[in-house]
Amino acid sequence: MAAAEGAAMIELNDLTVRFGGVTALDAVSARFKAPVSGIIGPNGAGKTTTMNVISGFLRAQGSISAFGTDIARLAPHRRSQWGLRRSFQREQLADDLSVADNLQVILDALPGTAQEKRADLAQALEVTGLAARAQQLAGGLNTFERRLTDVARCLIGRPRLVMFDEPAGGLTQDETHRLGTLIAQVHGLTGALVLLIDHDVDLIQRLCSETLVLDFGRRIAFGETRAVLADPAVQAAYLGIEEAG
Ligand SMILES: Nc1ncnc2c1ncn2[C@@H]1O[C@H](COP(=O)(O)OP(=O)(O)OP(=O)(O)O)[C@@H](O)[C@H]1O
Ligand SMILES: [Mg+2]
Repeated sequence: MAAAEGAAMIELNDLTVRFGGVTALDAVSARFKAPVSGIIGPNGAGKTTTMNVISGFLRAQGSISAFGTDIARLAPHRRSQWGLRRSFQREQLADDLSVADNLQVILDALPGTAQEKRADLAQALEVTGLAARAQQLAGGLNTFERRLTDVARCLIGRPRLVMFDEPAGGLTQDETHRLGTLIAQVHGLTGALVLLIDHDVDLIQRLCSETLVLDFGRRIAFGETRAVLADPAVQAAYLGIEEAG
């Protein structure tokens, strides 16, 4: 396992975001230090908004510290250089580029020698099982391969914080399991902390030692995943969405 540095931690302090009359985040605080931390909650709870604030797409009241740096204040290209990687609820691949070139465009914007970048790219393709697809156009990939490409994009260029927004959406159970195995490897391979949003509670339970639960923009629970899922307030928030199993 890559050793976590002194302050390998993502700290959200009193984040508040309003869209007109909707309070998407209401004074949310949490300190993520697990290799993989979960963010769960019903639709519209504020999960994606949280990632948008962390990645600086959205401004919020409050502050964020990632390994001691206020990353939300960094310009987008600086965030990438700092080590922020993210996948979106819909993958953002360039369909007219090959799988390898979808990774290369990220590496092109980062420091490092061509040789280092080649090795980095090759490792990401290998780990994700995409090596045989490297020269195929992204537009010709199936849903699972697109998702794997998304993960590969998050592995390259020395990431420090990787965020996945519903990576298992639309995948079969078997694909979800394989994707989960891959996401569980991200920290060991790169040293990055991972934040994972998903509606699949089994996946969250399997991968995340700690989990934040949001409901209507509020933090209703945070801590060890098992304890959080057993919390009556969390079960109440999920009532009617899925039966507690
Ligand atoms: N750009 C926006 N403009 C207006 N309202 C927004 C915007 N983005 C999000 N919202 C609202 O903020 C709230 C939180 O949305 P968010 O997308 O963070 O939820 P979520 O937890 O990711 O939900 P889901 O599980 O459906 O993806 C919702 O009420 C949503 O309608
Ligand atoms: Mg969302």
